Amino acid sequence: MPKDNIVKALNEQINAELYSAYLYYSMSACAASMNFNGFAAWLHVQAREELAHADKFYMHIIDRGGIVTLGPVQAPPSKWESIRTIFEDVSRHEQEVTARIHRLMDAAIQEKDHATQAFLQWFVNEQVEEERNSSALLERIRMIGASVGNLLYLDKEAGKRKAE
Ligand code: FEO
Repeated sequence: MPKDNIVKALNEQINAELYSAYLYYSMSACAASMNFNGFAAWLHVQAREELAHADKFYMHIIDRGGIVTLGPVQAPPSKWESIRTIFEDVSRHEQEVTARIHRLMDAAIQEKDHATQAFLQWFVNEQVEEERNSSALLERIRMIGASVGNLLYLDKEAGKRKAE
């Protein structure tokens, strides 16, 4: 079984992943309310991936004989001014998630918890992809600037994202 401090940190990460899902659902709803259905679909896929991440942490705790302890999930913001501000927040949020995963890995290394290190490596790799995808989309939105036509084109492109 992992040490108590690792189980606590893994439980906190379930909460953080569920918050990420909440955040992206809220962003998706906001994009849909602006009639950007492609960005809304992209964010909806992202929200569902976060639920899958929470589930991975849940299963890891169970598989290792730890106790899952669930707390309240913070409410996310519900309004953003624009698609650009939504994706600025997505990019910033993913950088924060990466920092959290790295702190968890540091703790697992310190505790010589090899099973948790092996488990977390998937998330270390996943965060490289998550940061790259969100920052690439943000850069394209910034390049477009005030051109509504180009933003609608990008909305259509973003809507092609498939669930993994
Ligand atoms: Fe669960 Fe977006 O990282």
